[in-house]
Amino acid sequence: MTTTAPGVHRGLAGVVVDTTGISTVIQETNSLTYRGYPVQDLAARRSFEEVAHLLWHGELPDEGQLRDFRARERALRPLDRTTLELLTRLPDTCHPMDVLRTAVSFFGAEDPAEDDGSPAANRAKSLTLLARLPTVVAADQRRRHGLAPIPPDPSLGYAENFFHMCFGGVPAPEVVRCFEISLVLYAEHSFNASTFTARVVTSTLSDLHSAVTAAIGALKGPLHGGANEAVMRMLLEIGDPRRAEEWLEEALAAQRKIMGFGHRVYKHGDSRVPIMQEALDRLVARAADPEATRLATLHAALRDAMAGRKGIHPNLDYPAGLAYHLMGFDTPVFTPLFVMSRVTGWTAHITEQLAHNALIRPLASYDGPDQRAVPDAA
Ligand code: ACO
Repeated sequence: MTTTAPGVHRGLAGVVVDTTGISTVIQETNSLTYRGYPVQDLAARRSFEEVAHLLWHGELPDEGQLRDFRARERALRPLDRTTLELLTRLPDTCHPMDVLRTAVSFFGAEDPAEDDGSPAANRAKSLTLLARLPTVVAADQRRRHGLAPIPPDPSLGYAENFFHMCFGGVPAPEVVRCFEISLVLYAEHSFNASTFTARVVTSTLSDLHSAVTAAIGALKGPLHGGANEAVMRMLLEIGDPRRAEEWLEEALAAQRKIMGFGHRVYKHGDSRVPIMQEALDRLVARAADPEATRLATLHAALRDAMAGRKGIHPNLDYPAGLAYHLMGFDTPVFTPLFVMSRVTGWTAHITEQLAHNALIRPLASYDGPDQRAVPDAA
């Protein structure tokens, strides 16, 4: 990252702005930990609900806590009629991230306790968002196909219920597991752009829904969460594995950023990628379908070409994008899936920010005109 003038850190690269006890990337081992636990171990051994509890409460739940957490989450999933009507009024042309952003803003407007920013109130609001966002995403996806929403099923776990609400059925356990792994890996990543956005909004003592609404806006961009969608569009644009190298040469010559590659923090590979890639490989093997195999071959060919040409490694969006496609989700829904997970990290950071708040207000190095007199009006 270039420093444009002495003391200026464009993009805040390398700047440490606060402390956090939620997650960190251990540079020596290139390992991401949530509350001290390596994320790959959490993804392999724990459910998304357990990880949400860990992020919010600092510890994995015991049996009773998990039972209670699950019961409360399942009871909060349904949307009321007003919200469902609101969703049908939004134009079909708007992106599903716009729908989600609008829904969260609407929940904030409806929240009678919006001015109560106590930790207990914010914990309750966080759980409500976690429970309801999948219902919004699923209803919106179905509406775009001219289908009525499917109500949540309280007998199903978080990931299974989401498939049920989208497709009217739950796929094979390996598919659900792959989805759950992606949710665990996407849940939290320290001071990334959307989390930092949520913390900036919170630092003014604004409310939780405002902070999450802003975070959704930040995640939408293709340099951040929007990359998982962009990965899929790129793979479909290339089409043929034999074209990967040639396409990459042309894209780099045109100064294009290759979506799903590179990371501000990981310079030797994203520690979340191996476990997501393994889950993707299992999905491809299970599909035993020529189209899935072709896309997986292209995916590997582009990754190898990028490593050889630029030495830049894939980030989590690279395997997650193709995995979501193979699970049957429409491409514009990929970033909302990221929101369903990252809302846990955002809200954990909102609570942490409030616990030791300082208004976030950096300085800028001015490079505009020198002070001058206002001319008389013509
Ligand atoms: N394609 C091509 N070149 C790249 C890429 C890429 N994806 N990523 C980095 N580079 C190159 C840059 O061109 C630059 O080269 P230069 O020094 O010769 O000019 C160098 O690597 C450093 O890149 P920066 O963009 O300065 O690094 P930064 O830390 O600002 O960027 C970012 C990180 C934004 C993620 C970048 O790698 C990128 O745009 N990637 C594509 C979008 C993407 O996949 N985003 C998802 C992020 S992870 C997540 O949200 C889960």
